[in-house]
Amino acid sequence: MEIRDIVKEKYGQAALRVTTGGNSCCGASATVDGCGVDPITSHLYDANQTGQIPEEAVLASLGCGNPTALAQLNPGEIVLDLGSGGGIDVLLSAKRVGPTGKAYGLDMTDEMLALARENQRKSGLQNVEFLKGEIENIPLPDNFVDVIISNCVINLSGDKDRVLQEAFRVLKPGGRFAVSDVVVRGTVPDEVKRSMLLWVGCIAGALPDEQYVSKLAKSGFDQIEIEPTRVYNVEDARAFLNAEGIDVDSIAAQVDGKFMSAFVRATKPA
Ligand SMILES: C[S@@+](CC[C@H](N)C(=O)[O-])C[C@H]1O[C@@H](n2cnc3c(N)ncnc32)[C@H](O)[C@@H]1O
Repeated sequence: MEIRDIVKEKYGQAALRVTTGGNSCCGASATVDGCGVDPITSHLYDANQTGQIPEEAVLASLGCGNPTALAQLNPGEIVLDLGSGGGIDVLLSAKRVGPTGKAYGLDMTDEMLALARENQRKSGLQNVEFLKGEIENIPLPDNFVDVIISNCVINLSGDKDRVLQEAFRVLKPGGRFAVSDVVVRGTVPDEVKRSMLLWVGCIAGALPDEQYVSKLAKSGFDQIEIEPTRVYNVEDARAFLNAEGIDVDSIAAQVDGKFMSAFVRATKPA
């Protein structure tokens, strides 16, 4: 199976869990503790934000950051969320850009799109549209979007260069890239990296931070910054790694402080 098919299947199942009254968590917490407090996805949004949107959108949240809290979003702007899932960041962005602006969500998984559209219906927001498609082939015209947000999705793509080129293409000159994602800092042996990334998400392929910067620059972006928002250590992943049969203490020194959620900013030159 291609990475894309595996990702689609996993997130389709996660969406159905929310639709049937469960929690969306997948990967680590789903197998280990039946979705307890996940150190990656929990407590990302404050009560002021969660109070503005349907509960199901909050339950479906599978991000690793809060791009809407860190991105500058102005009334009247067009926002695009790459891999919008249950729609939490799209709905919050729609509120910020107001009725003269618009928030698009793009996702390839039918079950997630159905959940997101239902959440939009419950929210009553009109300035929202969920599009079906892949972030490697964004179904929007060139120079169309003011701000691209995304929450823990670009790391899942098997072709990150293509995603960044597409993001650059659809942004207006001067447009902002404002994305939360998982990145790796420093050298980590491949096997340790594989185990930790299984823990981080259903399937994750986080980029080393310096590669993220160079790929953004190669796509044409400037003013690139990567700001860590949560740094993980081996204790966060202990239960999962134990269940996978991994000797956690032997890899602790290679893990601590190297895996993080980060806010990635860049600008398309004006
Ligand atoms: C980790 S979840 C994040 C969802 C949402 N951003 C949030 O914060 O809750 C990843 C989402 O990205 C979607 N996705 C993953 N790879 C994709 C791709 N290549 N193209 C479009 N959607 C993708 C999945 O279907 C899933 O809904």
